[in-house]
Amino acid sequence: MRTLTGITPSGNLHLGNYFGAMRPAIEAQAGGDCYYFIADYHSMTALFDPAERRRYTSGVALDWLACGLDPAKSVFWRQSDVPEVCELTWLIGSLTPMGLLERAHSYKDKTAKGISPNFGLFAYPVLMAADILLYDTQVVPVGQDQKQHLEMTRDIAIKFNQTYGETLVVPEPLIREEVAIVPGVDGQKMSKSYGNTLELFADEKTLRKRIMGIVMDSRSPQEPKPDADRNLCIQLLKLVAPPAVAADFEARLRDGGLGYGDLKKALFEHVWTYFAPARARRTELAAQPDYVETVLRDGAIRARAVAADVIRRARVACGIA
Ligand code: TRP
Repeated sequence: MRTLTGITPSGNLHLGNYFGAMRPAIEAQAGGDCYYFIADYHSMTALFDPAERRRYTSGVALDWLACGLDPAKSVFWRQSDVPEVCELTWLIGSLTPMGLLERAHSYKDKTAKGISPNFGLFAYPVLMAADILLYDTQVVPVGQDQKQHLEMTRDIAIKFNQTYGETLVVPEPLIREEVAIVPGVDGQKMSKSYGNTLELFADEKTLRKRIMGIVMDSRSPQEPKPDADRNLCIQLLKLVAPPAVAADFEARLRDGGLGYGDLKKALFEHVWTYFAPARARRTELAAQPDYVETVLRDGAIRARAVAADVIRRARVACGIA
């Protein structure tokens, strides 16, 4: 069963990315046939600094490799190394109704925020559909926010097949509802756009400051807190500490006697320790840029072999080959 996902290189990864998308993707490698790519073409609709794009792209490659993406098990490449995706974008975009794209939440949200839309932003769901369809993808694990994009991909594939004959595999979404929404330092969903993230590879001082700065309520340490399970630090601690340790902190907070300062110190220690092996691997990999580049190029060769076959089928179906 072929699983595919794209990773937008848009900044430093945070705990929300890790627990929401990365960890499940890395665990899925055991089942094989995983296709993971860095969506550098997608970054072009909103980022206009080439040096920054390069930095983000190699940064995200390092992050994923450091966190356990194994190029021996999965196909891992940079989207733009398989430019056939742009051709497929045109082939399917030419039968994608404007109305479908106008209804896209991501587009509506951005324009509502006053962002002046370019063609790329409007066409984003078509490029995303091409990403998926170019590799005969069967399953796409996505968060709720990408559900509509998946529905559009299915609509586009079905329309192509109806118009030109059975050519493209219609993918199924795998909506990950079981993964907890990771709260950010302000209690809202952790998201780069809310500025409330804890970054995976922040340096020690920055991370400590960020965690110690989490605002709690003004109840005294002694006061029992029957709502301890909803405490932000407890929720985060449950992700990174052994279950018994997190349960112990929760009980101490509920019964009274545990101060927020001590809770935050413990949270920092556990976040720091949890990511220590990945941090060490990341440092090692960062010292070998040639190795990382080779991994991506090898991945692109494997991805391209699949893409070449699909694009040939699609061209023949539409009568341009
Ligand atoms: N749009 C996705 C996001 O913002 C990234 C992405 C691009 C993607 N192409 C994809 C995800 C194809 C899944 C499949 O997170």
